[in-house]
Amino acid sequence: MTSDVKPLLPRHDDLVNERLVAWYFLAALTFLTVSMLAGLLVALQLIRANPLDGVELLSPARWRMVHTNAIAYGFLANAFLGCLHWAIPRLTLRPVASVALSYFIFSAWQFVVVCTAAGIILGPSFQAQDWVAELASQLHISMSLGAQGVEWGETPFWIDPVAQLGLLLVAINFMTPIVRQRGPMYVSLWYFMAAFVWTFLTYGMGNFMPEYAVGGVSGGAVGGLFIHDLVGLFVTPLGWGLMYYFVPIMLKRPIWSHGLSLVGFWGLAFFYPLQGIHHFLYTPIPMFLQYGAIISTIAVELVVTTVVINFIGTIWGDGEVLKKNLPIRWFYCGMIYYFITCFQCALQVTLTFQKLIHFTDWVVGHAHLVMFGVFSMWIFGIMTYLFPRLIGRDWHSRKLCEIHFWFSAVGVFIMFLDLGLAGVFQGYYWASLAPWDVSVMGSQSFWVVRAFAGLMMFAGTLCFLVNLYLTWRGPVRELNPDIDVAPALA
Ligand code: HEM
Repeated sequence: MTSDVKPLLPRHDDLVNERLVAWYFLAALTFLTVSMLAGLLVALQLIRANPLDGVELLSPARWRMVHTNAIAYGFLANAFLGCLHWAIPRLTLRPVASVALSYFIFSAWQFVVVCTAAGIILGPSFQAQDWVAELASQLHISMSLGAQGVEWGETPFWIDPVAQLGLLLVAINFMTPIVRQRGPMYVSLWYFMAAFVWTFLTYGMGNFMPEYAVGGVSGGAVGGLFIHDLVGLFVTPLGWGLMYYFVPIMLKRPIWSHGLSLVGFWGLAFFYPLQGIHHFLYTPIPMFLQYGAIISTIAVELVVTTVVINFIGTIWGDGEVLKKNLPIRWFYCGMIYYFITCFQCALQVTLTFQKLIHFTDWVVGHAHLVMFGVFSMWIFGIMTYLFPRLIGRDWHSRKLCEIHFWFSAVGVFIMFLDLGLAGVFQGYYWASLAPWDVSVMGSQSFWVVRAFAGLMMFAGTLCFLVNLYLTWRGPVRELNPDIDVAPALA
């Protein structure tokens, strides 16, 4: 055979733009660091140990929003985009629609995230120019160029159309290879396609409807739908789609049941969008909507169980791999936390339970378990697997990889237990009609533990960053092409 024979399948290097994947991951890690520092700042403020107390632009009220927005749009979105640039061309055997478009989206997205942070930090002091203010008042739009008063929708109004356009371009760039592929479609691609459509619609719903079209109680209901759909229709389908891709590759066996994977997908599609109002139980929103949200939340728990069973079936008989293979350990630990958080959701959504925990730290504990304990853990697993491939050398230190895992997994679990307990105490304090400060004083010890748990998670992330730097700067340590996991991790 001569070398000019055209290969039957495209080479991996022609399909995947590895440099771009690495850039997305680095951007994600940068925003993760900023977000964690912001989280620590708020945690310290709550125990009256904020070293930056009195600095207006670093006030915790602003940095709490930076914390959540940098996580959602800076860390999770960037990391997912990097993973999709790796997975979709390999699943479809076709490159994305345009590499130039990919780089444009990368730059535009960083602009969106930085502007969001700037809008939040500068807040109402960031006033519009006169002519913009005039135009805005004619259109009944808020004059401030700072944050909007919708949770997770704080993105300044002038950035919203740019972000919306960006999401459309993302969908076009990735849908092109998916639509062009021939043959049966693997379940990951179902999840990805759904995520592109749902994320576009969800972002539009939360960032335009309550601001311009739907006010009052209905605006609140839409806001609830938005925050929940951000988790359920943006993060969840991308996360599970990636698990369906990476787990079988690393375990070198097919997913246990194709049928169950379809139940999981369609169950999510049907029940998830109905849940949002469960954030606003006991409000003036009509009771039939609140009951509908409760029932669909409990239904999702059943769907989630089928998905987790499917992945346990896939690894069944090969438990040893959890000890050796670090990415697989990240993935399965995240799945157990996913099950716990959804189980918790099915309980906490009942009206009886809500009476006690509504507005307490229980919810914050739940939020950290799902966002960090599940999706961030999956992303760390994927990064742990992919970075050696992206920079062409094996990890500098297996020990640092292990510390990253244990500090993150244990740290977030402590935070979850601690805040859950704090929530129950706060609920009883409030029910006793004791003065508000009594509940604040009673929460202090829980908040101290939370600050330490956060420090532990942050220390784990620092180990990962140091390891990454040492790997990048260190001597080339070849990966064994015969095994899928980097030798240091297997
Ligand atoms: C260094 C570690 C972290 C610390 C110390 C920390 C601390 C905090 C604090 C103090 C709040 C505000 C709670 C309140 O308003 O009472 C918060 C909110 C939140 N954090 Fe973190 N955080 C950390 C890491 C993370 C990470 C890595 C994620 C996601 C991957 C995350 C996701 C969230 C979410 C979703 C909320 C909003 C919760 C809600 O509104 O119910 N945090 N965090």
